[in-house]
Amino acid sequence: MSAVEDFGSDVPGRTVVPARPTPPRHQVGLARALIQPAILTNLIASFPEAWYRERFSRFRIGVSASGRGIVINDADAIRHILVTAADNFPKEDNQLAVLRPLLGRGLLTDEGESWRRKRQLAAPIFQHAALKEFAPLFVRAAERSAHRALSQKNAFPIDAEMTRVTLDIIGEAILGCDLESDVEDISNTVGGTLDKFPGMFLAGVLLPPYGRDRVIEALVAPGRRSLTKFARKIIKHARDNQIRSSLIGKLMDASKADSGEDMTLDNVRDEIATFLLAGHETTATTLSWVWYLLSLYPDAMVRIQDEVDQVAEGRALTADDLSSLPYTRAVVDEALRLYPPVANLLRKANETTEVAPGITVKAGERVLISPWLLHRHETYWSEPEEFRPERFLGEAGKERPRHAYLPFGGGPRICIGSSFSLMEAVLILGTYAQKMGVQVLNTAEVMPQARIVMRPSVRLRAVTFPRVQPNA
Ligand code: HEM
Repeated sequence: MSAVEDFGSDVPGRTVVPARPTPPRHQVGLARALIQPAILTNLIASFPEAWYRERFSRFRIGVSASGRGIVINDADAIRHILVTAADNFPKEDNQLAVLRPLLGRGLLTDEGESWRRKRQLAAPIFQHAALKEFAPLFVRAAERSAHRALSQKNAFPIDAEMTRVTLDIIGEAILGCDLESDVEDISNTVGGTLDKFPGMFLAGVLLPPYGRDRVIEALVAPGRRSLTKFARKIIKHARDNQIRSSLIGKLMDASKADSGEDMTLDNVRDEIATFLLAGHETTATTLSWVWYLLSLYPDAMVRIQDEVDQVAEGRALTADDLSSLPYTRAVVDEALRLYPPVANLLRKANETTEVAPGITVKAGERVLISPWLLHRHETYWSEPEEFRPERFLGEAGKERPRHAYLPFGGGPRICIGSSFSLMEAVLILGTYAQKMGVQVLNTAEVMPQARIVMRPSVRLRAVTFPRVQPNA
Protein backbone atom coordinates (compact mmCIF):
# COMPACT_ATOMS: atom_id res chain seq x y z
CA MET A 1 0.00 0.00 0.00
CA SER A 2 1.38 3.43 -0.89
CA ALA A 3 1.75 6.39 1.45
CA VAL A 4 -1.00 8.14 -0.48
CA GLU A 5 -3.50 5.36 0.24
CA ASP A 6 -2.50 5.28 3.90
CA PHE A 7 -2.99 8.96 4.32
CA GLY A 8 -6.04 9.26 2.08
CA SER A 9 -8.13 6.88 4.12
CA ASP A 10 -7.69 9.08 7.19
CA VAL A 11 -8.77 12.37 5.69
CA PRO A 12 -11.81 13.56 7.66
CA GLY A 13 -14.94 14.41 5.69
CA ARG A 14 -13.55 12.78 2.55
CA THR A 15 -16.13 12.29 -0.19
CA VAL A 16 -15.88 10.01 -3.20
CA VAL A 17 -18.18 11.84 -5.58
CA PRO A 18 -16.42 14.79 -7.23
CA ALA A 19 -17.94 18.10 -6.13
CA ARG A 20 -20.67 19.90 -8.08
CA PRO A 21 -23.10 22.59 -6.97
CA THR A 22 -26.66 21.43 -6.31
CA PRO A 23 -28.65 22.83 -9.23
CA PRO A 24 -31.63 25.10 -8.48
CA ARG A 25 -35.01 23.62 -9.43
CA HIS A 26 -35.90 26.55 -11.66
CA GLN A 27 -34.12 29.11 -13.84
CA VAL A 28 -32.58 32.03 -11.95
CA GLY A 29 -34.09 35.33 -13.14
CA LEU A 30 -32.17 38.58 -13.70
CA ALA A 31 -33.76 40.11 -10.59
CA ARG A 32 -32.28 37.41 -8.38
CA ALA A 33 -28.92 37.70 -10.15
CA LEU A 34 -28.86 41.41 -9.34
CA ILE A 35 -29.64 40.80 -5.67
CA GLN A 36 -27.08 37.99 -5.58
CA PRO A 37 -24.34 38.99 -8.06
CA ALA A 38 -22.36 35.91 -6.89
CA ILE A 39 -24.56 34.02 -9.35
CA LEU A 40 -22.94 35.93 -12.19
CA THR A 41 -19.51 34.93 -10.97
CA ASN A 42 -20.39 31.26 -10.93
CA LEU A 43 -22.72 30.69 -13.85
CA ILE A 44 -22.76 26.90 -13.59
CA ALA A 45 -24.35 27.13 -10.13
CA SER A 46 -27.33 28.90 -11.68
CA PHE A 47 -28.04 26.14 -14.25
CA PRO A 48 -31.35 24.50 -13.29
CA GLU A 49 -31.81 20.74 -12.89
CA ALA A 50 -33.62 20.34 -16.20
CA TRP A 51 -30.62 21.57 -18.21
CA TYR A 52 -28.68 18.47 -17.14
CA ARG A 53 -31.34 16.23 -18.73
CA GLU A 54 -32.77 18.11 -21.70
CA ARG A 55 -31.12 18.41 -25.12
CA PHE A 56 -32.53 21.85 -25.88
CA SER A 57 -33.59 24.38 -23.21
CA ARG A 58 -34.74 27.94 -23.84
CA PHE A 59 -33.62 30.73 -21.48
CA ARG A 60 -34.19 34.43 -21.10
CA ILE A 61 -32.10 37.05 -19.26
CA GLY A 62 -33.71 40.47 -18.87
CA VAL A 63 -36.20 41.85 -21.36
CA SER A 64 -34.20 42.65 -24.51
CA ALA A 65 -34.13 40.33 -27.52
CA SER A 66 -30.39 39.83 -26.98
CA GLY A 67 -31.21 38.18 -23.63
CA ARG A 68 -33.04 35.34 -25.34
CA GLY A 69 -31.22 32.11 -25.99
CA ILE A 70 -31.03 28.36 -26.12
CA VAL A 71 -28.85 25.86 -24.29
CA ILE A 72 -27.79 23.04 -26.57
CA ASN A 73 -26.84 19.64 -25.21
CA ASP A 74 -27.11 17.64 -28.42
CA ALA A 75 -23.92 16.49 -30.16
CA ASP A 76 -25.36 16.66 -33.71
CA ALA A 77 -26.77 20.16 -33.22
CA ILE A 78 -23.44 21.24 -31.67
CA ARG A 79 -21.56 19.91 -34.70
CA HIS A 80 -23.92 21.92 -36.89
CA ILE A 81 -23.27 25.14 -34.93
CA LEU A 82 -19.53 24.83 -34.38
CA VAL A 83 -18.54 23.11 -37.63
CA THR A 84 -21.06 23.00 -40.49
CA ALA A 85 -22.61 26.45 -40.03
CA ALA A 86 -19.76 28.04 -38.03
CA ASP A 87 -19.84 31.26 -40.10
CA ASN A 88 -23.46 31.80 -39.07
CA PHE A 89 -22.61 31.43 -35.36
CA PRO A 90 -19.85 33.90 -34.44
CA LYS A 91 -18.74 34.45 -30.85
CA GLU A 92 -21.20 36.36 -28.72
CA ASP A 93 -20.62 40.17 -28.55
CA ASN A 94 -20.63 40.59 -24.76
CA GLN A 95 -17.95 37.95 -24.43
CA LEU A 96 -15.82 39.69 -27.05
CA ALA A 97 -16.54 43.10 -25.48
CA VAL A 98 -15.11 41.85 -22.19
CA LEU A 99 -11.99 40.30 -23.70
CA ARG A 100 -11.13 42.67 -26.55
CA PRO A 101 -10.03 45.70 -24.55
CA LEU A 102 -7.29 43.49 -23.08
CA LEU A 103 -6.55 41.09 -25.92
CA GLY A 104 -7.27 43.40 -28.86
CA ARG A 105 -7.45 41.43 -32.09
CA GLY A 106 -5.42 38.41 -31.03
CA LEU A 107 -6.23 34.92 -32.28
CA LEU A 108 -8.88 34.34 -29.59
CA THR A 109 -10.84 37.54 -30.17
CA ASP A 110 -10.37 38.35 -33.85
CA GLU A 111 -12.95 37.42 -36.47
CA GLY A 112 -13.48 37.04 -40.22
CA GLU A 113 -10.67 37.15 -42.79
CA SER A 114 -8.18 38.69 -40.38
CA TRP A 115 -8.72 35.78 -37.90
CA ARG A 116 -8.48 33.20 -40.72
CA ARG A 117 -5.11 34.50 -41.82
CA LYS A 118 -3.75 34.55 -38.26
CA ARG A 119 -4.98 31.03 -37.67
CA GLN A 120 -3.33 29.77 -40.88
CA LEU A 121 -0.01 31.30 -39.86
CA ALA A 122 -0.15 29.93 -36.32
CA ALA A 123 -1.52 26.41 -37.09
CA PRO A 124 1.77 24.76 -38.16
CA ILE A 125 3.53 26.12 -35.06
CA PHE A 126 1.02 24.37 -32.76
CA GLN A 127 0.96 20.99 -34.51
CA HIS A 128 1.83 18.02 -32.32
CA ALA A 129 5.03 17.19 -34.25
CA ALA A 130 6.29 20.78 -34.12
CA LEU A 131 5.61 20.94 -30.38
CA LYS A 132 7.86 18.00 -29.57
CA GLU A 133 10.78 20.39 -29.32
CA PHE A 134 9.09 22.02 -26.31
CA ALA A 135 8.91 18.72 -24.36
CA PRO A 136 12.34 19.11 -22.68
CA LEU A 137 11.24 22.56 -21.49
CA PHE A 138 8.06 21.02 -20.01
CA VAL A 139 10.02 18.29 -18.21
CA ARG A 140 12.70 20.67 -16.87
CA ALA A 141 10.02 22.99 -15.48
CA ALA A 142 8.11 19.99 -14.05
CA GLU A 143 11.28 18.78 -12.28
CA ARG A 144 11.89 22.21 -10.74
CA SER A 145 8.26 22.32 -9.66
CA ALA A 146 8.38 18.80 -8.16
CA HIS A 147 11.50 19.82 -6.25
CA ARG A 148 9.72 22.89 -4.83
CA ALA A 149 6.68 20.79 -3.88
CA LEU A 150 8.81 18.13 -2.18
CA SER A 151 10.75 20.69 -0.19
CA GLN A 152 7.58 22.09 1.46
CA LYS A 153 7.60 21.21 5.13
CA ASN A 154 3.90 21.95 5.69
CA ALA A 155 0.69 21.80 3.68
CA PHE A 156 0.98 24.17 0.71
CA PRO A 157 -1.39 25.42 -2.02
CA ILE A 158 -0.76 23.01 -4.90
CA ASP A 159 -2.99 25.06 -7.23
CA ALA A 160 -0.60 28.01 -6.78
CA GLU A 161 2.33 25.70 -7.63
CA MET A 162 0.49 24.56 -10.80
CA THR A 163 0.04 28.22 -11.78
CA ARG A 164 3.74 28.81 -11.22
CA VAL A 165 4.93 25.83 -13.28
CA THR A 166 2.59 26.50 -16.20
CA LEU A 167 3.52 30.18 -16.13
CA ASP A 168 7.22 29.28 -16.23
CA ILE A 169 6.48 27.08 -19.24
CA ILE A 170 4.26 29.42 -21.21
CA GLY A 171 6.58 32.36 -20.52
CA GLU A 172 9.59 30.54 -21.85
CA ALA A 173 7.68 28.91 -24.72
CA ILE A 174 6.22 32.20 -25.92
CA LEU A 175 9.34 34.23 -25.49
CA GLY A 176 12.14 31.70 -25.81
CA CYS A 177 14.26 33.51 -23.29
CA ASP A 178 14.26 33.98 -19.60
CA LEU A 179 12.26 37.06 -18.75
CA GLU A 180 10.94 35.55 -15.56
CA SER A 181 10.30 38.75 -13.61
CA ASP A 182 8.55 40.35 -16.60
CA VAL A 183 6.43 37.25 -17.12
CA GLU A 184 5.28 37.32 -13.53
CA ASP A 185 4.42 41.01 -13.77
CA ILE A 186 2.53 40.44 -16.96
CA SER A 187 0.69 37.46 -15.60
CA ASN A 188 -0.34 39.55 -12.57
CA THR A 189 -1.52 42.23 -14.97
CA VAL A 190 -3.63 39.78 -16.96
CA GLY A 191 -4.89 38.02 -13.79
CA GLY A 192 -5.62 41.33 -12.02
CA THR A 193 -7.61 42.52 -15.00
CA LEU A 194 -9.60 39.31 -15.08
CA ASP A 195 -10.46 39.74 -11.41
CA LYS A 196 -12.47 42.73 -12.57
CA PHE A 197 -14.52 40.30 -14.65
CA PRO A 198 -17.69 40.42 -12.48
CA GLY A 199 -17.78 44.22 -12.95
CA MET A 200 -17.24 43.81 -16.69
CA PHE A 201 -19.88 41.12 -16.92
CA LEU A 202 -22.42 43.25 -15.08
CA ALA A 203 -21.60 46.18 -17.39
CA GLY A 204 -22.15 43.83 -20.33
CA VAL A 205 -25.55 42.72 -19.08
CA LEU A 206 -26.84 46.07 -17.84
CA LEU A 207 -25.49 48.79 -20.13
CA PRO A 208 -26.06 49.55 -23.80
CA PRO A 209 -22.99 48.76 -25.96
CA TYR A 210 -21.50 52.29 -25.87
CA GLY A 211 -21.62 52.60 -22.05
CA ARG A 212 -20.51 48.99 -21.65
CA ASP A 213 -17.42 49.52 -23.81
CA ARG A 214 -16.41 52.75 -21.97
CA VAL A 215 -16.64 51.03 -18.55
CA ILE A 216 -14.69 47.99 -19.69
CA GLU A 217 -11.98 50.03 -21.40
CA ALA A 218 -11.47 52.06 -18.23
CA LEU A 219 -11.15 48.87 -16.18
CA VAL A 220 -8.51 47.29 -18.41
CA ALA A 221 -6.53 50.39 -19.51
CA PRO A 222 -3.67 49.99 -16.97
CA GLY A 223 -3.23 46.32 -17.93
CA ARG A 224 -3.10 47.15 -21.61
CA ARG A 225 -0.46 49.84 -21.05
CA SER A 226 1.91 47.45 -19.32
CA LEU A 227 1.34 44.84 -22.02
CA THR A 228 2.35 47.37 -24.68
CA LYS A 229 5.56 48.15 -22.79
CA PHE A 230 6.31 44.45 -22.58
CA ALA A 231 5.62 43.89 -26.30
CA ARG A 232 8.17 46.61 -27.15
CA LYS A 233 10.78 44.69 -25.22
CA ILE A 234 9.90 41.47 -27.06
CA ILE A 235 10.18 43.13 -30.43
CA LYS A 236 13.61 44.40 -29.43
CA HIS A 237 14.66 40.87 -28.40
CA ALA A 238 13.39 39.61 -31.73
CA ARG A 239 15.52 42.17 -33.57
CA ASP A 240 18.51 41.04 -31.53
CA ASN A 241 17.61 37.58 -32.80
CA GLN A 242 17.26 36.01 -29.36
CA ILE A 243 13.83 34.47 -29.64
CA ARG A 244 13.70 32.70 -33.00
CA SER A 245 12.67 29.31 -31.62
CA SER A 246 9.86 30.67 -29.41
CA LEU A 247 6.15 30.68 -30.25
CA ILE A 248 6.10 34.43 -30.81
CA GLY A 249 9.41 34.37 -32.73
CA LYS A 250 8.04 31.67 -35.05
CA LEU A 251 4.85 33.66 -35.53
CA MET A 252 6.83 36.80 -36.37
CA ASP A 253 8.89 34.84 -38.90
CA ALA A 254 5.79 33.23 -40.45
CA SER A 255 4.10 36.62 -40.73
CA LYS A 256 7.11 38.19 -42.41
CA ALA A 257 7.45 35.25 -44.83
CA ASP A 258 3.75 35.54 -45.71
CA SER A 259 3.34 39.27 -46.24
CA GLY A 260 6.89 40.59 -46.37
CA GLU A 261 6.05 42.90 -43.45
CA ASP A 262 6.99 42.76 -39.78
CA MET A 263 4.19 42.15 -37.25
CA THR A 264 3.12 45.46 -35.74
CA LEU A 265 3.58 46.37 -32.09
CA ASP A 266 -0.18 45.98 -31.56
CA ASN A 267 -0.19 42.51 -33.13
CA VAL A 268 2.73 41.31 -31.04
CA ARG A 269 1.16 42.66 -27.85
CA ASP A 270 -2.22 41.07 -28.59
CA GLU A 271 -0.77 37.62 -29.36
CA ILE A 272 1.45 37.64 -26.27
CA ALA A 273 -1.52 38.58 -24.07
CA THR A 274 -3.68 35.95 -25.81
CA PHE A 275 -1.21 33.08 -25.40
CA LEU A 276 -0.55 34.07 -21.80
CA LEU A 277 -4.22 34.32 -20.93
CA ALA A 278 -5.45 31.33 -22.93
CA GLY A 279 -2.40 29.18 -22.35
CA HIS A 280 -1.56 29.04 -18.71
CA GLU A 281 -4.46 29.34 -16.28
CA THR A 282 -6.37 26.73 -18.29
CA THR A 283 -3.62 24.11 -17.99
CA ALA A 284 -2.86 25.10 -14.37
CA THR A 285 -6.52 24.61 -13.49
CA THR A 286 -6.67 21.25 -15.26
CA LEU A 287 -3.75 20.02 -13.17
CA SER A 288 -5.29 21.40 -9.96
CA TRP A 289 -8.43 19.39 -10.69
CA VAL A 290 -6.24 16.34 -11.41
CA TRP A 291 -4.70 16.58 -7.91
CA TYR A 292 -8.12 17.05 -6.36
CA LEU A 293 -9.51 13.99 -8.17
CA LEU A 294 -6.48 11.80 -7.48
CA SER A 295 -6.85 12.65 -3.80
CA LEU A 296 -10.41 11.29 -3.92
CA TYR A 297 -9.32 8.26 -5.94
CA PRO A 298 -5.82 7.30 -4.71
CA ASP A 299 -5.82 3.99 -6.64
CA ALA A 300 -5.63 6.00 -9.85
CA MET A 301 -2.42 7.67 -8.64
CA VAL A 302 -0.89 4.26 -7.92
CA ARG A 303 -1.78 3.17 -11.45
CA ILE A 304 -0.15 6.29 -12.93
CA GLN A 305 2.99 5.63 -10.89
CA ASP A 306 3.14 2.02 -12.14
CA GLU A 307 2.68 3.13 -15.74
CA VAL A 308 5.35 5.83 -15.58
CA ASP A 309 7.81 3.57 -13.74
CA GLN A 310 7.45 0.89 -16.40
CA VAL A 311 7.98 3.31 -19.26
CA ALA A 312 10.78 5.47 -17.91
CA GLU A 313 12.43 3.29 -15.22
CA GLY A 314 13.40 6.39 -13.29
CA ARG A 315 14.86 8.49 -16.14
CA ALA A 316 13.33 11.84 -17.17
CA LEU A 317 10.28 11.54 -19.43
CA THR A 318 10.44 12.56 -23.10
CA ALA A 319 7.94 13.37 -25.85
CA ASP A 320 8.44 9.85 -27.22
CA ASP A 321 7.06 8.37 -23.99
CA LEU A 322 3.68 10.06 -24.40
CA SER A 323 2.14 7.31 -26.53
CA SER A 324 3.12 4.77 -23.85
CA LEU A 325 1.30 6.62 -21.06
CA PRO A 326 -2.37 6.01 -22.00
CA TYR A 327 -3.67 5.82 -18.43
CA THR A 328 -1.90 9.03 -17.34
CA ARG A 329 -3.40 10.74 -20.38
CA ALA A 330 -6.85 9.25 -19.62
CA VAL A 331 -6.71 10.79 -16.12
CA VAL A 332 -6.12 14.21 -17.70
CA ASP A 333 -8.94 13.59 -20.21
CA GLU A 334 -11.31 12.60 -17.40
CA ALA A 335 -10.37 15.67 -15.31
CA LEU A 336 -11.15 17.79 -18.38
CA ARG A 337 -14.51 16.05 -18.67
CA LEU A 338 -15.56 16.57 -15.05
CA TYR A 339 -14.10 20.07 -14.73
CA PRO A 340 -13.69 21.65 -18.18
CA PRO A 341 -11.73 24.89 -17.51
CA VAL A 342 -13.73 26.62 -20.26
CA ALA A 343 -17.13 25.63 -18.92
CA ASN A 344 -19.29 27.62 -21.34
CA LEU A 345 -19.05 28.56 -25.02
CA LEU A 346 -21.31 31.35 -26.22
CA ARG A 347 -22.37 32.01 -29.79
CA LYS A 348 -24.92 34.24 -31.50
CA ALA A 349 -27.02 33.36 -34.57
CA ASN A 350 -26.55 35.75 -37.50
CA GLU A 351 -29.47 34.23 -39.39
CA THR A 352 -32.46 32.14 -38.35
CA THR A 353 -31.32 28.52 -38.63
CA GLU A 354 -32.76 25.08 -37.94
CA VAL A 355 -30.06 23.40 -35.84
CA ALA A 356 -31.90 20.09 -35.36
CA PRO A 357 -35.22 18.74 -36.67
CA GLY A 358 -37.89 21.10 -35.29
CA ILE A 359 -35.39 23.26 -33.34
CA THR A 360 -34.91 26.74 -34.76
CA VAL A 361 -32.57 29.42 -33.47
CA LYS A 362 -33.75 32.88 -34.48
CA ALA A 363 -31.45 35.59 -35.84
CA GLY A 364 -29.90 37.47 -32.91
CA GLU A 365 -30.53 34.70 -30.36
CA ARG A 366 -27.75 33.48 -28.06
CA VAL A 367 -26.57 29.88 -28.09
CA LEU A 368 -24.99 28.42 -24.98
CA ILE A 369 -22.94 25.27 -25.50
CA SER A 370 -21.74 24.25 -22.09
CA PRO A 371 -19.03 21.58 -21.84
CA TRP A 372 -19.89 21.54 -18.12
CA LEU A 373 -23.46 20.37 -18.85
CA LEU A 374 -22.65 18.26 -21.88
CA HIS A 375 -19.95 16.29 -20.07
CA ARG A 376 -22.50 15.31 -17.42
CA HIS A 377 -25.31 14.37 -19.78
CA GLU A 378 -26.62 10.83 -19.33
CA THR A 379 -27.18 10.37 -23.06
CA TYR A 380 -23.44 10.38 -23.65
CA TRP A 381 -21.89 9.24 -20.36
CA SER A 382 -22.65 6.38 -18.02
CA GLU A 383 -22.39 7.33 -14.33
CA PRO A 384 -21.51 10.87 -15.42
CA GLU A 385 -20.75 12.12 -11.89
CA GLU A 386 -18.07 9.49 -11.30
CA PHE A 387 -14.35 9.76 -12.00
CA ARG A 388 -13.57 6.92 -14.43
CA PRO A 389 -10.49 7.45 -16.60
CA GLU A 390 -11.17 4.06 -18.23
CA ARG A 391 -13.84 5.68 -20.40
CA PHE A 392 -10.99 7.22 -22.39
CA LEU A 393 -8.99 4.01 -22.82
CA GLY A 394 -8.86 1.82 -25.93
CA GLU A 395 -12.19 1.20 -27.62
CA ALA A 396 -14.26 2.45 -24.65
CA GLY A 397 -15.18 5.81 -26.14
CA LYS A 398 -15.37 4.85 -29.82
CA GLU A 399 -19.19 4.95 -29.91
CA ARG A 400 -19.42 8.41 -28.33
CA PRO A 401 -20.11 11.23 -30.80
CA ARG A 402 -17.09 13.51 -31.28
CA HIS A 403 -19.02 16.62 -30.20
CA ALA A 404 -20.16 15.19 -26.87
CA TYR A 405 -16.72 15.99 -25.41
CA LEU A 406 -15.60 19.58 -25.87
CA PRO A 407 -12.91 20.66 -23.39
CA PHE A 408 -11.18 22.44 -26.27
CA GLY A 409 -14.28 23.55 -28.16
CA GLY A 410 -14.81 22.42 -31.76
CA GLY A 411 -14.85 23.43 -35.42
CA PRO A 412 -12.56 26.07 -36.91
CA ARG A 413 -12.31 27.96 -33.57
CA ILE A 414 -11.14 24.88 -31.66
CA CYS A 415 -8.33 25.56 -29.19
CA ILE A 416 -5.07 25.90 -31.06
CA GLY A 417 -3.13 24.98 -27.92
CA SER A 418 -4.80 21.60 -27.20
CA SER A 419 -1.77 19.45 -28.12
CA PHE A 420 0.51 21.86 -26.30
CA SER A 421 -1.49 21.67 -23.08
CA LEU A 422 -2.12 17.91 -23.18
CA MET A 423 1.58 17.23 -23.70
CA GLU A 424 2.41 19.66 -20.92
CA ALA A 425 -0.15 18.25 -18.46
CA VAL A 426 0.82 14.59 -19.03
CA LEU A 427 4.54 15.34 -18.67
CA ILE A 428 4.03 17.35 -15.48
CA LEU A 429 1.74 14.71 -13.97
CA GLY A 430 4.09 11.89 -14.99
CA THR A 431 7.15 13.69 -13.60
CA TYR A 432 5.41 14.31 -10.26
CA ALA A 433 4.23 10.69 -10.13
CA GLN A 434 7.80 9.45 -10.53
CA LYS A 435 8.88 11.37 -7.47
CA MET A 436 6.00 11.57 -5.02
CA GLY A 437 2.44 11.00 -3.93
CA VAL A 438 0.21 14.04 -3.46
CA GLN A 439 -2.76 14.39 -1.15
CA VAL A 440 -5.10 17.39 -1.13
CA LEU A 441 -6.27 17.74 2.47
CA ASN A 442 -9.35 19.93 2.11
CA THR A 443 -11.22 18.05 -0.63
CA ALA A 444 -14.47 18.41 1.33
CA GLU A 445 -14.36 22.23 1.00
CA VAL A 446 -13.93 22.29 -2.78
CA MET A 447 -16.55 23.45 -5.31
CA PRO A 448 -16.11 24.34 -8.97
CA GLN A 449 -16.43 28.06 -9.62
CA ALA A 450 -16.84 29.15 -13.25
CA ARG A 451 -15.61 32.64 -14.10
CA ILE A 452 -13.60 32.92 -17.31
CA VAL A 453 -11.85 29.72 -16.23
CA MET A 454 -13.56 27.18 -13.95
CA ARG A 455 -11.36 26.87 -10.88
CA PRO A 456 -11.70 25.24 -7.47
CA SER A 457 -13.48 27.69 -5.16
CA VAL A 458 -10.78 27.43 -2.48
CA ARG A 459 -7.01 26.99 -2.42
CA LEU A 460 -6.08 23.28 -2.54
CA ARG A 461 -3.95 22.59 0.54
CA ALA A 462 -1.75 19.60 -0.18
CA VAL A 463 1.06 17.51 1.24
CA THR A 464 3.51 15.33 -0.69
CA PHE A 465 5.14 11.96 0.07
CA PRO A 466 8.53 11.30 -1.54
CA ARG A 467 8.90 7.96 -3.34
CA VAL A 468 11.94 5.80 -3.61
CA GLN A 469 12.95 5.85 -7.30
CA PRO A 470 12.61 2.38 -8.87
CA ASN A 471 16.21 2.24 -10.06
CA ALA A 472 17.71 4.21 -7.16
C1 HEM B 1 -6.24 22.59 -20.73
C2 HEM B 1 -5.89 23.69 -21.35
C3 HEM B 1 -6.78 24.46 -22.30
C4 HEM B 1 -8.15 24.46 -22.44
C5 HEM B 1 -9.17 23.67 -21.63
C6 HEM B 1 -8.46 25.37 -23.52
C7 HEM B 1 -9.75 25.60 -23.99
C8 HEM B 1 -10.05 26.38 -25.10
C9 HEM B 1 -11.36 26.51 -25.70
C10 HEM B 1 -12.63 25.81 -25.20
C11 HEM B 1 -11.26 27.33 -26.76
C12 HEM B 1 -12.39 27.72 -27.72
C13 HEM B 1 -13.21 28.89 -27.20
C14 HEM B 1 -14.45 29.16 -28.05
O1 HEM B 1 -14.69 28.47 -29.04
O2 HEM B 1 -15.22 30.08 -27.70
C15 HEM B 1 -9.88 27.76 -26.83
C16 HEM B 1 -9.37 28.62 -27.78
C17 HEM B 1 -8.05 29.02 -27.82
N1 HEM B 1 -7.01 28.56 -27.03
FE1 HEM B 1 -7.15 27.16 -25.60
N2 HEM B 1 -7.30 25.90 -24.00
C18 HEM B 1 -6.25 25.37 -23.30
C19 HEM B 1 -4.91 25.61 -23.49
C20 HEM B 1 -4.39 26.51 -24.41
C21 HEM B 1 -2.98 26.78 -24.61
C22 HEM B 1 -1.83 26.08 -23.88
C23 HEM B 1 -2.90 27.77 -25.55
C24 HEM B 1 -1.68 28.45 -26.16
C25 HEM B 1 -0.45 28.15 -25.94
C26 HEM B 1 -4.26 28.10 -25.95
C27 HEM B 1 -4.60 29.06 -26.88
C28 HEM B 1 -5.87 29.23 -27.39
C29 HEM B 1 -6.18 30.18 -28.46
C30 HEM B 1 -5.19 31.12 -29.15
C31 HEM B 1 -7.54 30.03 -28.74
C32 HEM B 1 -8.34 30.74 -29.82
C33 HEM B 1 -8.25 29.96 -31.11
C34 HEM B 1 -9.04 30.56 -32.26
O3 HEM B 1 -10.10 31.12 -32.03
O4 HEM B 1 -8.56 30.42 -33.39
N3 HEM B 1 -5.12 27.31 -25.24
N4 HEM B 1 -9.15 27.14 -25.82
